Amino acid sequence: MGKIITIWGNKGGAGKSSIALALAEVASEQKNVCLVELDFSPGCFRTYFKITGDISIENAIDDVENVEKYLITPEGKKYKVLLGDFPDRAEEVKGEKLTALLNTLSKKFDLVLIDTQPSTNDTILDTIKASDEVFMVTEGAITTLGRGNGLLDYLELHKLADLEKFKMIVNKKEKKLPFDELGKIPIIKVIPKFRRHELGSLNGFRKHAEEILEECFDDMQPQKRGLLGRLKRK
Ligand SMILES: Nc1ncnc2c1ncn2[C@@H]1O[C@H](COP(=O)(O)OP(=O)(O)O)[C@@H](O)[C@H]1O
Ligand SMILES: [Mg+2]
Repeated sequence: MGKIITIWGNKGGAGKSSIALALAEVASEQKNVCLVELDFSPGCFRTYFKITGDISIENAIDDVENVEKYLITPEGKKYKVLLGDFPDRAEEVKGEKLTALLNTLSKKFDLVLIDTQPSTNDTILDTIKASDEVFMVTEGAITTLGRGNGLLDYLELHKLADLEKFKMIVNKKEKKLPFDELGKIPIIKVIPKFRRHELGSLNGFRKHAEEILEECFDDMQPQKRGLLGRLKRK
C-alpha cells in the first residue's frame, strides 16, 4: 500500500498547489506518484498542464476498477494526474465512493498526493479520513495562523478529524513567525517567500520538497545533481 498525503489549508493562495506540484515532481524521480486535484473551485491543473478533453475525477469515481483510464501523464512529467472538476460536481465526490477511489489509487502508487481547495466539506473530511498524513499549508501572518488554529480547534471539538496525522507547513515566510508552533500540530517546514515564483517552479522548493519526502519515506534519497543543479538549488 502506498501513502496517501493530503495538502490542505483554509487560506487560498498560501501555496498548497505549489507544494503539491513540487512534492509530485521530486517524489516521482524515485517513486510511482499520482497527483489528485481535489479542487472544484475549479482548480488550475487542466490549464497548467495544458490538458485537453474533459476527463476528471467525476469519471473515475463511478468506475474505480478502471481508474487508470482516467489518469493523465502531463507532458514532460513522470507522475500521473487525476483532474478536478466544476463546482457542481463536488457533491458526487465523497463518502464510500471517494474512499474506494483513494484506496484503489494507494494500491497502485507509492504516493497518492491530494491537492485540495480551502474547505471543510464532506469531500475534504472523507479525504482526510482516508489519508495517512495531512499537510496543512498556512502563511506566517497572525491572521492566517490564527484562523488555521481555529479550524483545528473546530475539527477537534467536533471529532471531525484525527489531528495526530496533521502537520503544518508554513509557506511564504517573510519575517519572524508570531509563534514557534500552534500547539496542536507540529510545524514540519517553514518555506520563505521567494521574490519571484511561478506556479510549479521547483526553484527554491526542491530542497524543501526533498526534506519533507525524506521524512515521509525511509528510502527516499536526496538526488545527486550536477554542479549547475547544486548552484541553482536554494
Ligand atoms: N514560497 C513562495 N514564495 C513566493 N510565491 C509563492 C510561494 N509559494 C507559492 N507562491 C505563489 O503563490 C501563488 C499561489 O500559490 P498556490 O500554490 O496556487 O496556492 P493555493 O493552491 O494554496 O491556492 C502562486 O502564484 C505561486 O507561484
Ligand atoms: Mg490550489
